[in-house]
Amino acid sequence: MRAGLGRAASPNWHLTRRNAVLVRLAKVAGLPGRTGDDRFTGEQAALRRVATLVASGTAPSEVFAAVTEEAARLLGADYTMMARYDPDDAIWIVGTWSSAGAAYPLGAQARLGGRNVPTQVFETGRPARIDDYDVASGAVADAVREFGFRAAVGVPVIVEGRIWGVMIAASRVEPLPAGTEAQLAGFTELAATAIANAQARVDLRAYADEQAALRRVATLVAETAPPEEVFAAVTREAGRLLGADRSTMARYRSDNAETVLAAWDSAGPSIPAGTRWSLGGKNVHTMVFQTGRPARIDDYTGASGPVAEAAREFGDLRAAAGVPVSVGGRLWGVMIVASRTGPLPAGTEERLAGFTELAGTAIANAEAQAALTASRARVVATADATRRRIERNLHDGAQQRLVSLALDLRAAEVTAPPGADEHVRQLDEVAAGLDGVLQELREIGRGLHPAILAESGLRPALKTLARRSAIPVDLDIQVTGRLPEPVESAAYYTVSEALTNAAKHARATAADIEVTASNHALQVRVRDNGRGGADFNRGSGLVGLKDRAEALGGRLDLHSPPGAGTTLRIILPLNDTGGPRMPADAAGRAGDASRGLAADSAV
Ligand SMILES: Nc1ncnc2c1ncn2[C@@H]1O[C@H](COP(=O)(O)OP(=O)(O)O)[C@@H](O)[C@H]1O
Ligand SMILES: [Mg+2]
Repeated sequence: MRAGLGRAASPNWHLTRRNAVLVRLAKVAGLPGRTGDDRFTGEQAALRRVATLVASGTAPSEVFAAVTEEAARLLGADYTMMARYDPDDAIWIVGTWSSAGAAYPLGAQARLGGRNVPTQVFETGRPARIDDYDVASGAVADAVREFGFRAAVGVPVIVEGRIWGVMIAASRVEPLPAGTEAQLAGFTELAATAIANAQARVDLRAYADEQAALRRVATLVAETAPPEEVFAAVTREAGRLLGADRSTMARYRSDNAETVLAAWDSAGPSIPAGTRWSLGGKNVHTMVFQTGRPARIDDYTGASGPVAEAAREFGDLRAAAGVPVSVGGRLWGVMIVASRTGPLPAGTEERLAGFTELAGTAIANAEAQAALTASRARVVATADATRRRIERNLHDGAQQRLVSLALDLRAAEVTAPPGADEHVRQLDEVAAGLDGVLQELREIGRGLHPAILAESGLRPALKTLARRSAIPVDLDIQVTGRLPEPVESAAYYTVSEALTNAAKHARATAADIEVTASNHALQVRVRDNGRGGADFNRGSGLVGLKDRAEALGGRLDLHSPPGAGTTLRIILPLNDTGGPRMPADAAGRAGDASRGLAADSAV
């Protein structure tokens, strides 16, 4: 079945079609009852039989066979056939019935042209008849005469308002009676219904496939899958759905070049991601770059430029179509499907656009996420720097002065004249008060930013925390040497908060701390044996830690079932700037510096 009807634009078109089908069938079913006129009753019965086939969704080829046979019997014709018009001015026989011996067989083709019934129907879109084929001409007429026919009548088969084919009745002996056209038309209408029906099923399946493909990609985008995963899915799904041999997604760069982000090929391995091409010459990549609009080349033999040459290494292409990938209203990249056999069907660009829209959303999401992570990291870093500065000022300024004041006081006490006991006692009190203030200032300083962490690293700093803890702590640190400063700080604050919480909220009697590291990440786990029930939403300490972890591209897990203790775990990436992962080049800059992701903006 080659009913190549265009796709209707409305998503409800198949319902419209189904309604049209029902209306036609109702018309047939509503024909007047028996009138005693055998001819009429016969016609009604024949139409009913065909209508039943159509209504039960019988394949068009079977409907055509039934239509030609029923019509031939009803009309007493020697031969009937149904043929469809081919785009290249030919007819193609899809149903045939003959009273005696061979005539035009099923599947046969004949050129249009000359004076004959199929050509006249094709040219006028109306019924036509030739009562004497001696005066006919053209390839069709030659064949008709060869099979021994004298006269013929034909009516158009109209599907969806367009001429689809022709139904013909022929006679060997005499012209067909007047009214033959009208009777044939009853059958062609049913045949057209079967065709429209079958086409609706095919189109509906294609429509469902497209929706499913888009949904799979949309799900990835909604799950904020890494962009490279989305790019791979988009190229694969679009390539398969559109019947392409290759599909490619590339990002435009500022230097009149592009980088392949993902490529899919029906024949196996394709252009590797990261491949970089210069733009220029005649090819779809360059056309979309220059115009910012969809573009196509139906004959790639004339294509030129570095992109076209490089693409040839992966197998010759005949045609390609591409659409821009836009992010936030700016041209970001391009998505292209290509074919090794022939031009891509009309409408390919529109269907591709559905996919590139999703890709654009994924990119915008990732960019927003990266920008957010970077800004959180800046906030944390700024706050840390401020705390460190205040701690140093306290330590080097106020604390030092208080220490020397305390020394002066002690000296004054020692040198007090005899009999000044009351004064000495007062000095003593002031000195004790000074010590208290100093102690308090040290505590505040440590809380702001522990000097020992900056000076000596995580291990001694955590040991100090464990020693000062109100509950006994078992400490296991399997990390030596220094780590990046933000990572050390986050680890330290996690332990500090967990131990404070264990003492303050948990009624725990013991805690243990484990610090481990791989090449990629540092992990700190703090457990207590308290009452559990910790909750991010009930305070500010834990949620602050979570922000800090995420700002570094890491995460904080809390496991605290009631009655079963609390486990707090922070995982922080090492050797990584954090943030959502983009393919090396996708994260680079394109166009002016304000475009795209700032690769160096994270932490
Ligand atoms: N180790 C723990 N055991 C039991 N409850 C805890 C523990 N840690 C925290 N919580 C509970 O979770 C809440 C949130 O903790 P956190 O964010 O540290 O806030 P807070 O400022 O109150 O310490 C606490 O108020 C407390 O009710
Ligand atoms: Mg707390």
